[in-house]
Order: sequence, then C-alpha cells, then structure tokens
Amino acid sequence: MKVTIVGAGNVGATCADAMAYRRIASEIVLVDIREGFAEGKALDIMQTQTTLGFNTKVVGSTNDYSKTAGSDVVVITSGIPRKPGMTREELIGINAGIVKSVAESLLQHSPNAIFVIVSNPMDTMTYLAFKSLGLPKNRVIGMGGALDSSRFKCYLSLALEKPANDIQGMVIGGHGDTTMIPLTRLASYNGVPVSQFLSQDKLDKVAADTMVGGATLTGLLGTSAWYAPGASVCYLVDSILNDQKKMIPCSVYLEGEYGQSDICIGVPCIIGKNGVEKIVDVDLNDAEKALFAKSADAVRAMNGDLKSILG
Ligand code: NAI
Ligand code: 2OP
Repeated sequence: MKVTIVGAGNVGATCADAMAYRRIASEIVLVDIREGFAEGKALDIMQTQTTLGFNTKVVGSTNDYSKTAGSDVVVITSGIPRKPGMTREELIGINAGIVKSVAESLLQHSPNAIFVIVSNPMDTMTYLAFKSLGLPKNRVIGMGGALDSSRFKCYLSLALEKPANDIQGMVIGGHGDTTMIPLTRLASYNGVPVSQFLSQDKLDKVAADTMVGGATLTGLLGTSAWYAPGASVCYLVDSILNDQKKMIPCSVYLEGEYGQSDICIGVPCIIGKNGVEKIVDVDLNDAEKALFAKSADAVRAMNGDLKSILG
C-alpha cells in the first residue's frame, strides 16, 4: 500500500515517521515545496530502518507529483501552522490556496485515493477539498477528532490517575478551541461512566483543557503540536489501509446527519478500506445537540470565506 503525505514539516514528517515505524504501508512519499526538504526528511527516516526494524520505503520529492502516482491514501498537511495568539481560522486565506492546488495535483496522479485533510482550519479545508475535487463523500476525510479525542483521553487519565488506554471517549464538532465538543457524558473508564469517579468541576476542567489542548501546546512550543497530530493521522490511515473499521470522529460532508447539511464537521465514523464506511448516529441529549448546532454555525460561517475560491 502506498501513502503520500504533502507537507514534510512538523506534522507531515511525524506522520511519515509513525507510519514507517508502525509498518502500515509499503511505500510513503513525502512532498514539499522547499527544495530538498522532503528528500532530507525521507532519507533521515530511512536511516532508522535497521535500528527500528522496518523496511518501508520512504521517498522524498520537491513538488514532483509523478512520484505520488497510484497512492491509496493521500494526506495533506501543507500550509502554515498556528503561531501563538493566532486562531486556526486566521490561517484560512493562505492555506485554502495551498490545499486546493495540492489536492488537485494529487488527484491527477492518484485518481482512486482516499484524501485525508489535516491543514487548518481543518473543517473548512475539508469542505474546500470535498467541493473542489468532486469525489464521493466517503473519500474526503478531515483529521481533527482523532487528535482531540486523544487529548480528551489523556486529560481524563491524568484526572483519574488511571492508564490512558483504559479510557474511552470522543470529541465531536468542529476542530476549533470553541467549536469542539468533548462528550463527557459518554466517556468511560473501562465502561464505567467517568462521572462515577470525577466531580462535575473536574469533568468541566477536563473538557476545558481538551478544548484549548492545541492552543496550550502552541503557547508552550511557539508553533503548533506535531507528535500527537502525526500519531493521530497514522491511527486514521491505519484504519483505512488495514480495513480496521475503527470508530473515529472525523470531519466529513453531512447530508442531513446530526441535523446538518452542506458542511464538513466532526462526527463519529466507521473508518475502513473505503474511507468513511458509515456515519454513526450517536443519541445526543438536548444540551449536546445545541452545542453541535452552535459548532456547525461557527464552521459554516468560516466556510463563507471560501466563496471567492470556490466561485
Ligand atoms: P510546518 O510549517 O512545520 O509544515 C508545513 C509544510 O508545508 C512546510 O514544510 C512547507 O514548506 C509545506 N508547504 C507549504 N506550502 C506547500 C505547497 N504548496 N506544497 C507542498 N508543501 C507545502 O507546519 P506543521 O506544524 O506541520 O502544520 C501543518 C498544518 O497542519 C498547519 O495548517 C497546521 O495548522 C495543521 N495542523 C492540523 C492539525 C489537525 O488536527 N487537523 C494538528 C496540527 C497541525
Ligand atoms: C492542534 O490542534 C493546531 O490543529 C492544531 O494542535
């Protein structure tokens, strides 16, 4: 199986590294516009083959899309990341032009690929890719919910003082500081609702920390995070390539699901070899439904900025 990742920066290179180490693909192509940069990252990863014990071929390319031909999955991370004090939304103008042209080049060379969009603002970039590529909705997937859910489970495990892999939980809605919705009511510690172990105040703090999870790291690092984002992309792509049918919250095009249409936003999806195999209809309560509608309003408002690009 072949995966192309465009953008060999922090997130793209970390994706490639995680995918190679976990042996989820036989070939990974990294593409970047910076002369020699993707080639350098690819070679560096290849030189961990014998010490880490994998044989995945990792190829770098400076904007030569012929090397990406026949990819099964393509991942778009190209663009600029968030700087301290900058919202994901402020990235829209620059990243929209980059994502649209990269997506079109990828499709030319890999007409059957499943597209995974990472560049921010991710829900809007996913909508842009979906609208401009004209692919069926199962083949355009925005990655944000996998990352936000992993942060949610991390903060829950810290509050509970229990192992993270014993925690279940999901974050749906937009991939934004004020638009994501940690589903605290449904989170569990080995199937037992976390509300049995944590007070409402503590649960509210976990949810609040999750929502600013990306901004906290941007403040600490001076740019946005990459280890958890790269690992989350790998987790999602693994479920596609190996047809794992994991339930992962992803930003996908909705046509009436969750009361929304003509929008890409995070909802629980079954992810397998066909990309989005099913959108799971979770029974939300009235408060959660209201938060989802508010989140969709905010994402839709941001999509309005794409009018000049989409025509
Ligand atoms: P980075 O700056 O380290 O890497 C971006 C790379 O894209 C650079 O190497 C740059 O040369 C390349 N690039 C720019 N224009 C290009 C083009 N036209 N063709 C090919 N390559 C091009 O940034 P980082 O930290 O890797 O973040 C990448 C994107 O991912 C940002 O938009 C960031 O906000 C987003 N992000 C999204 C997350 C999510 O959960 N959806 C999580 C973390 C980051
Ligand atoms: C993150 O959540 C900024 O989307 C990026 O880390």
